[in-house]
Amino acid sequence: MEYEHVLVDRDGPVGVVTLNRPRVLNALSPALIVELSDALARFDADPEVRAVVLTGGPRVFAAGADIGDMSERSPVDQLQRDQTGRWGVITRFSKPLIAAVNGYALGGGCELAMMCDLIVAGDSARFGQPEIDLGIIPGAGGTQRWPRTVGKYVAMEVNLGGAPIAARRAHQLGLVNRVVPAEVTIDVAKALALRLAAKPPVAVRLAKEAVNRALETPLSEGLAAERQSFYFLFATEDQKEGMRAFLEKRRAQFRGR
Ligand code: CAA
Repeated sequence: MEYEHVLVDRDGPVGVVTLNRPRVLNALSPALIVELSDALARFDADPEVRAVVLTGGPRVFAAGADIGDMSERSPVDQLQRDQTGRWGVITRFSKPLIAAVNGYALGGGCELAMMCDLIVAGDSARFGQPEIDLGIIPGAGGTQRWPRTVGKYVAMEVNLGGAPIAARRAHQLGLVNRVVPAEVTIDVAKALALRLAAKPPVAVRLAKEAVNRALETPLSEGLAAERQSFYFLFATEDQKEGMRAFLEKRRAQFRGR
């Protein structure tokens, strides 16, 4: 598939997808979402890729769903396009996915960042759900992921008030892992991705699944699932290698088996 609205690059085990509609602040058109989903599905299937950075480039992450495309749609149009349903590729993505956010991450753009596993924000980043000012509400997780991340009251402020919050406040609230100077956001995200890429891939995958499960299940179920994955990992070569390497005081070589 030829891409027009995203750029795809790979640096060793780290895949990079860059949203690429700068003239409209990377507004998330249906075509962009199809390409993004395809690019991520390919990285997920590629055993050479062990972590992925998702960015909008140096100036903006994404200013949300494409309002021009959406403005005259009917509910049936929305249902048939099922634009937000396509985000399943991202929420099911099995490898670490790091958002590198500069500038605006608004509406669907903020929701996209929140679907990632970690967020590195440039000091220029602004996160928000301005849908309310368009007469709608978020449709890709904004009302659900904000309260799970920052609690009810800030979530209400963001979803009802529509004003974005700045990178440093987002960091204080736990929405963002690191705030860095905007010119190094992507490099910092790539370095973080490279570190995670060196970890044992099966354990990384199961750790990611377990943390995500914590947001979906009661504690007892989450603990039971975690225990099963913990036991399962003793069947991997990487567990033997990791523990032997520790005992032999050498660096482990993980193979994803
Ligand atoms: N959709 C379509 N085009 C958009 C866009 C969007 N979400 N956001 C920005 N653009 C376009 C603008 O129309 C403008 O195009 P023209 O040059 O052709 O006029 C261009 O990008 C630059 O934007 P601005 O001139 O507005 O730039 P600014 O710096 O003055 O303002 C901004 C930046 C505050 C982000 C402003 O563009 C803005 O408010 N954008 C809309 C944000 C928004 O409401 N997002 C939510 C969308 S709905 C959604 O996402 C639903 C969901 O949950 C999935």
